[in-house]
Amino acid sequence: MRAPKLLHVAAEVFPFVKTGGLGDVAAALPAALGRAGADARLLLPGLPAIAEALQQPRTVFRFGPLFGAARITLLFGHLPGSGVPAYVIDAPYLYRRGGGPYQDASGTAWPDNLQRFALLGWVAAHLAAGELDEAWTPDVLHAHDWHAGLACTYAKGHPATAAALLFTVHNLAFQGLFATVDFPQLALPASTLDSHGLEFHGQLSFMKGGLQFADRITTVSPTHAREIATPEFGFGLDGVIRSRQAVVSGILNGVDYDVWNPARDPALAAPYDAEHIDGKVRCKQALQHELRLAPEANTPLLAMVSRLTPQKGVDLVLGAMGPLQACGVQLAVVGTGDPGLEAALREAARTHPSRVAVRLVYDEALAHRMVAGADAMLVPSRFEPCGLTQMYGLRYGALPLVRRVGGLADTVVDAAGPALREGRATGFVFDAATPAALGRTVERLVALYRQPAAWRAAMHTAMTRDFSWDHAARDYLALYRDTIARSAGGTDAADLSGAVHPAGTRGTT
Ligand code: ADP
Ligand code: GLC
Repeated sequence: MRAPKLLHVAAEVFPFVKTGGLGDVAAALPAALGRAGADARLLLPGLPAIAEALQQPRTVFRFGPLFGAARITLLFGHLPGSGVPAYVIDAPYLYRRGGGPYQDASGTAWPDNLQRFALLGWVAAHLAAGELDEAWTPDVLHAHDWHAGLACTYAKGHPATAAALLFTVHNLAFQGLFATVDFPQLALPASTLDSHGLEFHGQLSFMKGGLQFADRITTVSPTHAREIATPEFGFGLDGVIRSRQAVVSGILNGVDYDVWNPARDPALAAPYDAEHIDGKVRCKQALQHELRLAPEANTPLLAMVSRLTPQKGVDLVLGAMGPLQACGVQLAVVGTGDPGLEAALREAARTHPSRVAVRLVYDEALAHRMVAGADAMLVPSRFEPCGLTQMYGLRYGALPLVRRVGGLADTVVDAAGPALREGRATGFVFDAATPAALGRTVERLVALYRQPAAWRAAMHTAMTRDFSWDHAARDYLALYRDTIARSAGGTDAADLSGAVHPAGTRGTT
């Protein structure tokens, strides 16, 4: 079989635009698929940093007006560094602005997000139909999260689209909800708005646009694939997910070891690896110095690098500040997010200046120094579809302390019982989402830390675990092949053959 042609559709891509793990995945997965022999390309919105980064851009198609943008150019080039081929939608009116990809600088959602991400989906569908680039039509359109959800909706309704449609859920908490009064702007058939389509409790849901119309749905860990079918983790979409259970699966994300490798990490004070651990001692000293923590080599240093939202269990850490202090650990937090959580963390650092350090910044190099300098990574999430920082912690010998949810449950082996005796342990896992349970787990961590040989053994096991993207790429390729084979034989998906497309919008090249 010839190499499959894959179009990945995402709103962000590391290192140009990144708000979280989605950016890491959008950068690393197509690159890994390319290494595995596929022809994998990205489709991205022309946000300033992305449009500026694209190398040797050439115009593939010009069109407009569409979704309020008078002038739209589809560019094709390569991303610097990885060399991943990418299409970029240059629509200055919708994408060229300061602030973040989804929100303005003050954290308010852009008022035209419906138009901004409808355009992303529309271009994906028309590219997949072979209408925008005569030289390339994908076999698979792979859309990521709500920003790309409408790619599946538009593609399913497009008579010329033969591509298999895959939708990956990275985070169900963000659903892309809009007022139904704006539905006509999408130029989709009226039937698309019913409860089997985009309608979600009286609103439009772009996330549902992916979930309902994709041929296959994946999420980013096997455990989370089971979780999203339950009310506890389904964010109101568990019923939709249960109705599509036969096509839902989980594929664990990987780590880009070119970016996250303590032996070759330019951000670190000293390099190290599983066999030569001395450099980590220097990294810890340097981090304590940088964060103005007490320079104590034998005090366990726990680190958290995270968006500061209810998802991440920051409140559990704040609630466990008493037990943490009683255990004598140091805590370092780097993150940005909810003003309330930021204020509470700032206060904790003020109260315990030599034991708690907080940096309310987004800083990629500092994130690397944190993982390298820490003895343990704290990831006590309420839910975690995959989670990347615990996997970075494993490779950097910062043993993860995590809640038993989603990808955290799939990647960390608790240091207890047979796993500890048999040398399989890589971290600490707890169940109840309570400060008390977190506190008891920190006590277990400190007890192991006080047994240097056992701690070293767990570090070695953690550092030599392999979560590289090549595993995930193989699993995705198998899924693509299966989906292509099945969609060639007809699908059971909704019939949107009456779909209307914005008229008079296509120009000429
Ligand atoms: P999520 O996608 O839910 O935010 P992940 O663990 O999958 O969680 O990915 C988070 C990514 O964002 C990691 O690469 C992490 O290092 C990075 N990150 C989060 N907060 C910060 C920060 N304040 N500074 C630098 N990197 C951060
Ligand atoms: C999401 C999830 C996180 C996951 C990331 C990349 O933002 O919260 O768990 O690792 O996407 O898939």
